[in-house]
Amino acid sequence: MSKLVVALAGLGTIGTGLARLLAENSVAQERLVLKSVLVRDASKPRPYLPASARLVTNLQDVIGDPEIDVVVELWGGVDAALKLCRSALAAGKHVVTANKNLLAEKGPELFALARENGVTIGFEASVCAGIPIIRVLREALRAERILSVEGIVNGTTNYILTRMSEAHISYDEALKEAQEKGYAEPDPTYDVTGKDAACKAGILASLAFGSFVDSQRIPTRGIATLGAEDVRQAEAMGYRIKLIAAGRRTASGALDVEVAPVLLPHDHPLASVRLEYNAVLVESQGLGRTVYSGKGAGPAPTAVSLLADLLDAADGRALPADDAGFTANPAVLEPPRDQIDRYYVHLCVPDKPGVLAKVAGVLATRDVSLASVLQPEAEPDAQSFIPLILTTHRARRENLDAALTELKKEPWGKQVVLRIQDR
Ligand SMILES: NC(=O)c1ccc[n+]([C@@H]2O[C@H](COP(=O)([O-])OP(=O)(O)OC[C@H]3O[C@@H](n4cnc5c(N)ncnc54)[C@H](OP(=O)(O)O)[C@@H]3O)[C@@H](O)[C@H]2O)c1
Repeated sequence: MSKLVVALAGLGTIGTGLARLLAENSVAQERLVLKSVLVRDASKPRPYLPASARLVTNLQDVIGDPEIDVVVELWGGVDAALKLCRSALAAGKHVVTANKNLLAEKGPELFALARENGVTIGFEASVCAGIPIIRVLREALRAERILSVEGIVNGTTNYILTRMSEAHISYDEALKEAQEKGYAEPDPTYDVTGKDAACKAGILASLAFGSFVDSQRIPTRGIATLGAEDVRQAEAMGYRIKLIAAGRRTASGALDVEVAPVLLPHDHPLASVRLEYNAVLVESQGLGRTVYSGKGAGPAPTAVSLLADLLDAADGRALPADDAGFTANPAVLEPPRDQIDRYYVHLCVPDKPGVLAKVAGVLATRDVSLASVLQPEAEPDAQSFIPLILTTHRARRENLDAALTELKKEPWGKQVVLRIQDR
């Protein structure tokens, strides 16, 4: 059987992990040959490269080489990676990529190009690295009607939230610890703002619901405004705060997709996912709830998924590019204002009489009723504010937001608003 000829673009963390696996794995050696590695600097020492591989610095050395069957894009980012993948697909080469940003932004264009040229795009590694969730959605559940997909898809934020909850430390302390252990970047913005999770949410929702969900249209909130008090109060109420990427079908047929920190009950399948681990919960009509969990980052887990995609291409069983949800028709998204949920609200208020009555009154005028009120004993902060923690009964998000906007006119401190999920 002839071997699939591979070109690898990028020898960073993941590229080196894949090169190592290709050199060590016997199935890879039987079915694949790594011919070219496209790098910027060919003079840098590169460990783990097999004797078959030569370093090249010119895109044309890969695209113009008729022997190369597949290009593995591991550059990251959008612009250069897009140019590389466009050229590879147009030249009739398969593409395998771990690049969530590229697919979340340019998925429909690349899949259309792959279809036109009769080639495939493998992207298992783009969401949750080694967890085979893309395969589950594209293959195992292909005939299922998927009702919802919810995931912890970012290891950095899950590590921070787990440490805040278990070690009772502040957000800043947990972030510092994550950075020291290599789970957070020196600049953590992309992870803690939820942007990384939004790209993955876009890909998962596109596959689950069969029409393209542009990640830039997904309402996205991160975890940086959460305090130790929020994590403590959530725990005391029987919940755990997790950054959840969620998509579900609504009664109107639109999709409700969001990324936000959410209060999950302790017995929710995602509540027990700790530290840097990832997990995705899929609810479908016939199968009910299934959970897929494991290591969602790192060179070894990511290389496992990349290798599986390469072997599929080698065996001619990579899925055609026409079933992937990266279609030209954009999904219809439900506006967040229409969501009806229970909410946790943390206000920072002055320690004086009449404040609670004022808050309850403003909420009541917007049809938001209170389920519980808690004023934990606390020393006033630097601005003399104390916490006021409320939970609401089911309320329309638009009404809650209007009430909170009204309350923001008061010279009080920050507000934290989180959705409470009951199952
Ligand atoms: N890290 C993870 O755990 C993980 C998990 C799942 C998916 N991914 C995805 O995998 C991809 C690669 O991530 P990574 O962590 O390996 O990144 P990385 O360590 O920064 O490596 C990227 C490599 O690509 C090269 N590169 C970037 N742009 C290039 C260009 N225009 N021309 C030539 N070379 C270029 C860089 O070369 P220089 O060294 O010369 O800059 C570097 O060697 C990303 O899409 C990422 O989202 C990563």
